[in-house]
Amino acid sequence: MSQDTWSAVDRYVTDLLLGGDADIEQSLERSAAAGLPPIAVSAPQGRLLWMLARLARARRILEIGTLGGYSAIWLARALPPGGTLVTLELSEHHATVARDNLARAGVGDRAQVITGPAAESLAALQREGVEPFDLVFIDADKTGYPDYWRASLALSRPGTLIVADNVVREGQVTDASSSDEAVRAVRETLALAAAESRVRATVLQTVGAKGYDGLCLALVE
Ligand SMILES: C[S@@+](CC[C@H](N)C(=O)[O-])C[C@H]1O[C@@H](n2cnc3c(N)ncnc32)[C@H](O)[C@@H]1O
Repeated sequence: MSQDTWSAVDRYVTDLLLGGDADIEQSLERSAAAGLPPIAVSAPQGRLLWMLARLARARRILEIGTLGGYSAIWLARALPPGGTLVTLELSEHHATVARDNLARAGVGDRAQVITGPAAESLAALQREGVEPFDLVFIDADKTGYPDYWRASLALSRPGTLIVADNVVREGQVTDASSSDEAVRAVRETLALAAAESRVRATVLQTVGAKGYDGLCLALVE
């Protein structure tokens, strides 16, 4: 098994089940043209996020790490009328591209892109006492994950689904002696999930166009 095979299968699945989605495809093209890195979730992963949001009947979704709004479009599309996506992004440039992509995809009315360090934006949301979110997608800087996990829990209710991307890191997650800060942060986040009596969590390993990685799925009870 190799990256070539994983990428070929992702292309096959995308063409068969997800192709011809102009808004989604053009959002990636505009992001690339604006110089954003190609680190959005894959199309099959985007459809999975959409599906999870639908299954959770999410009316309020929080995303941490917007980039050009690719996963945000998938998530916003899953919202019912009157639903809201709040997505947090450090870079003003990324946020500008994302707002444009969300508007062009016809979901700009239900998506709020908040710029600044996510830890600060999350603290502000808690201070404001916003309604809890039904689904949270954590996909920003990995070293921030433990803080994002704590804030996500604080902004949750029983039934909230918290999804965190990139927690397997080509298997490095099993290396307890790793000096890689991202690996250490992901391990700390998973340990927090394991120690938290309010959640049931699992990790799903993934392969595809984005390599070998994995998603943590945690349900607040
Ligand atoms: C992997 S990308 C997000 C991809 C996006 N979720 C998607 O799939 O389309 C991570 C994003 O997090 C942003 N980011 C990095 N550090 C951050 C921080 N401290 N606060 C908020 N966003 C941050 C980066 O600028 C980048 O746009």
